[in-house]
Amino acid sequence: MLPTIEWQDDAVLMIDQRKLPASEVWVRCATGPEVARAIKTMVIRGAPAIGVAAAMGIALAMKRSKATGTRQFAAEFQKTCDLMAGTRPTAVNLFWAIDRMKRAFGAAVQAGASVAEIRARLEAEAQVIHDEDVASCRAIGRVGAEYVPDGARILTHCNAGALATAGYGTALGVIRAAAEAGKRVSVLADETRPFLQGARLTAWELVRDGIDTTVITDNMAGALMRQGLVDLVVVGADRIAANGDVANKIGTYSVAVLARAHGIPFYVAAPVSTIDLATPDGAGIPIEERPAREVTHVGPVRLTPEGARIRNPAFDVTPNEYVSAIFTERGACTAPFAASLRDIVARG
Ligand code: MRU
Repeated sequence: MLPTIEWQDDAVLMIDQRKLPASEVWVRCATGPEVARAIKTMVIRGAPAIGVAAAMGIALAMKRSKATGTRQFAAEFQKTCDLMAGTRPTAVNLFWAIDRMKRAFGAAVQAGASVAEIRARLEAEAQVIHDEDVASCRAIGRVGAEYVPDGARILTHCNAGALATAGYGTALGVIRAAAEAGKRVSVLADETRPFLQGARLTAWELVRDGIDTTVITDNMAGALMRQGLVDLVVVGADRIAANGDVANKIGTYSVAVLARAHGIPFYVAAPVSTIDLATPDGAGIPIEERPAREVTHVGPVRLTPEGARIRNPAFDVTPNEYVSAIFTERGACTAPFAASLRDIVARG
């Protein structure tokens, strides 16, 4: 399985997702701030992977800390958590992972642990978050694969694959699990402007796995659906509000509306850590606005004239009425989502 991120000695290693598929380069982050910068600049991206990176970044920063007393150590810990929290606002997995690290820290302090023991505890917790994410993805895959008929032609948007998680993927986990169960599947990968996660990353992952993959530009999806060439859609999520509204990569909403117009099921695959019961509906989900350069340029080449204003909201919200089911590691949720999401979270 492709490792997206790993802890090695005193550093966090991650494959540089900005460079794929042209080159496979590993970035070595030796400090917490270097990890935060890697998250912000999309060296690593995808909601669960961002959470894992933040947890490892916090553990790394505290390992590097020169503090000897618990009070100074705690102040540095809080500062590092704040730094990680400021990287990307939409994926709730980031805040979920930071909260877990805070709880691990609090429990260690409560138990009277020394600074060295707290460091070890944080490193262990980050590794558990990583390992649990891989296990969750595999379980999501098993749940979702039940909804994939043999011969399915599946459309996906962005990259919700191994690269977006600690491994295996959520939406791509469903596709992988269906293929592993012996079903014949083929995938239409939306290019996903402007960062091209679909064209670059989803296609790269699936081709490596030998899964039949066709890349389309985002504006082709409707025409292909109308021709009867799409059997189902499965996408990931950055945050799922309590009522089942789903924030995911910009363009997901358009795909969901098109799927509804053509009677095609629209599925969302995400770990329970992506469910945010504290946010009642999609209107409360913060949408990251990313640098204009992602829209104005492809690599060094400028596409747009100087003087044109640019918008670059990185995510959109799909209202729950467009969602056929949400696959989690604990099972599938269906409408009414307020009840099914509450139950699945409570099951933990
Ligand atoms: O901006 P990105 O690349 O971090 O956005 C990623 C997505 O929107 C994914 O679909 C989502 O995080 C789910 S990843 C399992």
